[in-house]
Formats: sequence, C-alpha cells, structure tokens
Amino acid sequence: MSSDQLFAEKKDLVGNFAFDRDAALVFDDMLTRSVPFYAEIQRMIGEIAADFAVDGTNIYDLGCSLCTTFLQLQRLEREVTFIGIDASAEMLEQGRQNLDHHHFSRPYHLLCQDLEQSFTVENASVAILNLTLQFIRPLRRDAFMRTVAEGLNKNGCLILVEKVLSDESLLNRLFIKYYYELKKRNGYSELEIAQKREALENVLIPYQLCENEELLQRAGFRSVEVFFKWYNFCGLLALK
Ligand SMILES: C[S@@+](CC[C@H](N)C(=O)[O-])C[C@H]1O[C@@H](n2cnc3c(N)ncnc32)[C@H](O)[C@@H]1O
Repeated sequence: MSSDQLFAEKKDLVGNFAFDRDAALVFDDMLTRSVPFYAEIQRMIGEIAADFAVDGTNIYDLGCSLCTTFLQLQRLEREVTFIGIDASAEMLEQGRQNLDHHHFSRPYHLLCQDLEQSFTVENASVAILNLTLQFIRPLRRDAFMRTVAEGLNKNGCLILVEKVLSDESLLNRLFIKYYYELKKRNGYSELEIAQKREALENVLIPYQLCENEELLQRAGFRSVEVFFKWYNFCGLLALK
C-alpha cells in the first residue's frame, strides 16, 4: 500500500480534490487513515449485505473505488452478481487490479459511469453507498436516490455511510476538531489536513443526519436505522 502524501507539500494553489490516478494509487492508505473505523465499517457492510443478499440478484456498490467492499463479500454464500459503478476510470483500474490480486472469483461488472447522469440499478437485493453520496451534488441527490430505491427489490436494503453535519454549531465545531485530531494521530500534518480540507470544500458536501433520513424517506424507503456513528460519520441502513 503506497502512503498518502498528496497534500504533504505546500501548494501555491489548492485545486478541487480529484479521484485521479494519483489519488487512486494511495487511496487505500488515505481511507484507512482518514475514515474512523474504516476497516470496521467495511466489515459491518459485509456482514449486513450478507443477510440481505438473495440468490439471482445483483449487489451494487455505487462509488466502488478500489472494490474493497466486494472483497468483504468474497465468500458470500449466495449466487449474486456484483456491480461496481464509479466515475473514475483510474479508480476502477486499481479496483480491477485489487480484485485480481485477491483472486476474486465471483461474477462481476465494473462500470465507469457518472451517478449524476443516467445509470441503472435493477434486480438489486443490496445497494452500497460508502462515502459516495456526499460527492453527488445536492441538486441531483433526490433523483439519484429515487433511481437506487426503484432498482432495489422489495425487502432489499441500502447501506449508506456518510460524513454528516450536526445541526448544533458547537457540536459541529467539536466533532470536526475531534476528527482532525484523529487525522493527526494517524500521521497527517496540520498542513496536510488544511490543504485537504480546502481541496474538498466544494466537492464533498455533507448533509445533516436528519436530511439524509428525509432524503431516504422521500425516495420511498420504509425504514431507516443508524447502524454506525462516530462524531461526524454515520452509517444508515434503509429498507425498501
Ligand atoms: C470516498 S470514495 C468511496 C469509497 C469506497 N466506496 C469504499 O468503500 O472504499 C468516493 C468514490 O465515489 C466516486 N464518485 C464521486 N462522484 C461520483 C459520481 N458523480 N459518479 C460516480 N462515482 C463518483 C469517486 O470516483 C470515488 O471513487
């Protein structure tokens, strides 16, 4: 795993964060050091997905990046097809290599598609959105979520993990401070944290937890439950 040094040097101008080749090459390290309990979140997604997967259906990972989540489901005892969608060809290239490296032998398709444009979800028992919705422009989120909900079979589930905002500004500030403390403990410098924050400013747009719950309800999910929470990170399980 290459170490994430993307923001280690002082930049004259910090551009928008891009899921390009440079990011793809260090993405595993970036997520492990930047997302609290990343490995545990992946494990939980695998555990939940295994209980909702149905023979003859599809499991979608929307914004699949390096296909890390598919590897959690390698030994799933169900006849399913794995479909990973991501807008970044560079991420998918690394994802494909990752699957090959781990001898992933299940039927799968990796599609390079923009989730803000037209994409298809069909015959799905499970849809996974691990830290992806926050990159879909708010204006597009309702239409996006309707497509996901409509493509899920009855009793199918959506597993959604997001960075979230608090509606109380004091808690918001504290949670973000605790989050940056985690990044420091994981070896990121003040400069790296500041430059990454700037790069993500217009790209990663978190909702409040209640806004995400309302979005899911509007899209037609009948039940929404929090399964993971760490300060400004939250996992939601939504049932159709
Ligand atoms: C934080 S990463 C997701 C991490 C991954 N789900 C995991 O479990 O490790 C966000 C991913 O969403 C993808 N993405 C962002 N906006 C997108 C869009 N509009 N359409 C498709 N993919 C998008 C990025 O290319 C990136 O790979």
